[in-house]
Amino acid sequence: MPQKETAGDKTMESIISLCKRRGFIFQGSEIYGGLAGTWDYGPLGVALKNNIKKLWWKRFVDDRDDMYGVDAAILMNQKTWEASGHVGGFADPLVECSKCKHRFRADQLDTEATAKKKCPDCGGKLGETKSFNMMFKTHVGAGEDTASVSYLRPETAQGMFVNFKNIVDSFHPKLPFGLAQIGKAFRNEIAPRDFLFRAREFEQMEIEYFICPPKDAKDSEWKKTFDDFVGEMKAFMADVGLDARKVHELEVPDGERAHYSKRTIDFEFDWPFGRKELYGLAYRTDFDLKQHSDFSKVDLSYFDEDGKERFIPHCIEPSFGLDRTVLAVLCDAYHEDDMGSEEGKDGKKEKRVFLKLSPSVAPYKVAVFPLLKNKPELVKKAKEVFEMIKKELAVKGINGVTFDDNGNIGKRYRRQDEIGTPYCVTIDFDTLEKDAGVTVRDRDTGKQERVAEGELVTYLMQKL
Ligand code: GAP
Repeated sequence: MPQKETAGDKTMESIISLCKRRGFIFQGSEIYGGLAGTWDYGPLGVALKNNIKKLWWKRFVDDRDDMYGVDAAILMNQKTWEASGHVGGFADPLVECSKCKHRFRADQLDTEATAKKKCPDCGGKLGETKSFNMMFKTHVGAGEDTASVSYLRPETAQGMFVNFKNIVDSFHPKLPFGLAQIGKAFRNEIAPRDFLFRAREFEQMEIEYFICPPKDAKDSEWKKTFDDFVGEMKAFMADVGLDARKVHELEVPDGERAHYSKRTIDFEFDWPFGRKELYGLAYRTDFDLKQHSDFSKVDLSYFDEDGKERFIPHCIEPSFGLDRTVLAVLCDAYHEDDMGSEEGKDGKKEKRVFLKLSPSVAPYKVAVFPLLKNKPELVKKAKEVFEMIKKELAVKGINGVTFDDNGNIGKRYRRQDEIGTPYCVTIDFDTLEKDAGVTVRDRDTGKQERVAEGELVTYLMQKL
């Protein structure tokens, strides 16, 4: 039965269509009919995603003295996942329809389907709820016995816990310190949905931040670190340009937190399809290091030189979905208005679609055009200005300048608006004849300003 369409569905449809049309994101394995829960990033999607990664790495690693980057292997010894609890407990409740064989997550069915055990697709009878482990299982090497079993990691976190001792032995950091990692994670979601929101292959940006264990039950030093990360996570959301009014903190109550967590805050976002999780922040205590010590028989304790004592550190974990960040940024930036609207084939005015991306994440910051593409003198001058801006902005650490001479000027503005380019620079005949500078157009207001060529880079630097 088709679900009732909501305004959110329409927005998601428009965003997905823009992403495909303009080369941000495509369905995975599209020419073969796709593979559910996988997405391929095109040139603009990669640029957007890389800009987000760079901002994250700068804030959480490069700008701090207490963070160590790692890049652990995706395939890990199977004991890792026994120790972490994923083999035993990383499961969702699954129900299958006896008639059409469609599978559903039992906790996501509507109340009618749950109460009547009726399939939402064909009305057939739903079977008993089973526990479905979400890890992708594989075999390492030529053998297919139990000893060769491994899993595609379902989170990047464990790659950091198993490297804790390596970092301590090679860098001798003083507590508190953190390990940070960006990388792929894989979950065999029963029902991947909402574009990048719930995928089977996605990227995470995670930190495991190690602190001294509380001295007694009243010692709440960990709360300060936890609160500091709440602030830093919000600051990162501002870095990528997310509207703070759309982000909400949810204190996850006892009984609903993951088995390892003593406190969790979910940062929820107002998606077009409802308010749902964007990021998580958890106090994992000493659960992981203790488990890995027990399972590996390797001592993962830490010797504190100041207090002359040995202990297992506790851990605070800020966890960010990278693809969810891309999606939140796109949803927040997607706008339609009537500016410069042209009549379409049916005589109706077409809406302008534009992405109000923050310059910090926009794939292109500046696009340079000649007013007309068939006037060689304009094209030559525009190329010169393009090369000059590109080179000088790169020296200041700003990349993302493009040259565009496809179609007429109106079409170029529309294209750049749709991909979120904040500024367009046009070279016209006045630029050549009267040395009257260039036109700079602002994506959001459509306002155009004349700027002297010699002042162009300084002008753009102030805006970006
Ligand atoms: N290490 C802790 C951990 O993995 P999680 O809440 O399961 O916690 C962390 O995942 C973040 O990863 C989520 O807040 C979300 O941003 C992202 N995430 C989780 N499952 C995802 C999926 N199926 N598709 C896309 N992103 C996902």
